[in-house]
Amino acid sequence: MFNALPQEYRVAPPEELRARIAAAREQLGSRLTILAHHYQRLEVCEFADHIGDSYGLSKIAAAMPEVDYIVFCGVHFMAESADILAQPDQTTFLPNPLAGCPMADMAEVADVMEAWAVLNDLGVADRTIPVSYMNTAAGLKAFTGKNGGLICTSSNANGALEWSLSRGDKVFFFPDEHLGYNTAVRFGVPRERIVFWDFAEDQGGLTDEQIREATVILWKGHCHVHTNFSPEHIDQMRETYPDVRIIVHPECPPAVVDKADAFGSTKFITEYCESAPAGAVIAIGTEVNLINRMAHYYPDKTILELSGQTCAVCANMYRTTLNDLAFCLERIDDFKPIRVPEHIKADARLALERMLEIPK
Ligand code: 13P
Ligand code: SF4
Repeated sequence: MFNALPQEYRVAPPEELRARIAAAREQLGSRLTILAHHYQRLEVCEFADHIGDSYGLSKIAAAMPEVDYIVFCGVHFMAESADILAQPDQTTFLPNPLAGCPMADMAEVADVMEAWAVLNDLGVADRTIPVSYMNTAAGLKAFTGKNGGLICTSSNANGALEWSLSRGDKVFFFPDEHLGYNTAVRFGVPRERIVFWDFAEDQGGLTDEQIREATVILWKGHCHVHTNFSPEHIDQMRETYPDVRIIVHPECPPAVVDKADAFGSTKFITEYCESAPAGAVIAIGTEVNLINRMAHYYPDKTILELSGQTCAVCANMYRTTLNDLAFCLERIDDFKPIRVPEHIKADARLALERMLEIPK
């Protein structure tokens, strides 16, 4: 299998792996940068040069032309985005190549093109701007760029809607219905002008009229980690901790985001925890590794997982271990990189660059 982890890395004890990662890192010196998403395990984050949200890490990847190797501890679409934005002589690696994103997989380019053909037949495609969440495969980013659209993340989705609705009458948003809905409603799009494209149904389950009348069409994808949270979790948390502040990620369902005290990207959530006063009680609706890391960094604050359970694990983010990182760094010249094919890159870069230009 592609970059299968050799046995020697599987059995090495953590202390040995730590020493080997540190040595490999030192040897590669300024030729290397290690990026880690906020959902990575604590022990992986400890080796990162930069920890961030999807937006921040893509910006960093685009602004380090002096580095030869970008090792991205995250999931596949993140490493692809770094490769798209990096210089041609830079190489991007995903230490565990099996780390994907099930939500990104919910919007396949072939299905999206079929949906777009329907819009074309109805005569509305040329006034529709595609907006794709960062959590999409490179092929969908290219489709987006080619059709006049842009990428957004959880931290700039509002700006992306503004950009799009000043250039077209309609937005087709992929693939997270919840981020799309939470953003569109706050942007002021009337609820009756937001429709859901169910990719399991013919014509998205929509009538010609519904498509024509819509301002925002939301692809019916979701994140199985964030849809774990419910408004009842918020009620229970407030009952147990009357002073609690509830902070959630916008991939959570609207009923959860509406009841929370604040919502935002993983960077927003970590900054919220950092700036809260000692003694604060904060319940967080996002991936549990971020929450555990915040609780570890700020022992003077009570930082809780919103559902009160430990079910909010992104198994894909969790795949990357010290074993993978040691293997990737020690064998970097043999490790299979993430390379987005050239015929996809140009249009995908266009969509990402449009995102980097909009105000946050
Ligand atoms: P952020 O852009 O907020 O880091 O979120 C990425 C993600 O995958 C959330 O599930
Ligand atoms: Fe994808 Fe959800 Fe994991 Fe984020 S938390 S990477 S959206 S599966």
